[in-house]
Amino acid sequence: MYLIVSIIILILSFVTLILAIALVVGLVMAKGVPFISTKSDDFDEILKASEIKSGEIMYDLGCGKANLLIKAVKEHGARGVGYELSLTPYLWAKLRSWVSGARLKLYMRDFFKADLSEADVVFCYLFPKIMEKLEGKFKTELRSGARVVSYGFRMPNREPDKIVQTNTDNPELGRIFVYKY
Ligand SMILES: C[S@@+](CC[C@H](N)C(=O)[O-])C[C@H]1O[C@@H](n2cnc3c(N)ncnc32)[C@H](O)[C@@H]1O
Repeated sequence: MYLIVSIIILILSFVTLILAIALVVGLVMAKGVPFISTKSDDFDEILKASEIKSGEIMYDLGCGKANLLIKAVKEHGARGVGYELSLTPYLWAKLRSWVSGARLKLYMRDFFKADLSEADVVFCYLFPKIMEKLEGKFKTELRSGARVVSYGFRMPNREPDKIVQTNTDNPELGRIFVYKY
């Protein structure tokens, strides 16, 4: 009897540990992509490369804390839309947009479900596998004149129209790939 109770307690402890790890990972990571912010030193270069103009709509797919969107809205008069699946960065983004006064549309939703047909600029800081999956979505949904700006990672099957090297200490990651549709 004692042995059975001990085994049940052991199994329950193990399951609880696995659930706790899954919860913590889910708070800071979505679909295998961890929450890492773009270097704020590179924001100006990214926005310049995107050629964002006042009134245009900028999407950040996996927006994290939405710092880039906030800058685009406040300093360039853009309209910002962010998708973020992880709870912690999503809540940060909500708070930051409220504190900064930049009115953003923020969705805690998978960006593959987003309708990108109204986007003028789509910003991504994602992994190559995800960029590959997004290629088809961009092709079918983006309107003529829209730009995709990808930080650090290129789309595997499409040549960028422009590559901007930023002044970061990491030349690989500090590249901005611009694609025009
Ligand atoms: C590398 S971070 C970039 C954050 C922000 N864009 C930036 O540049 O500072 C990528 C973010 O994408 C989010 N993400 C990954 N896949 C997603 C999906 N399918 N839908 C929504 N968010 C996703 C992750 O949770 C993570 O916060």
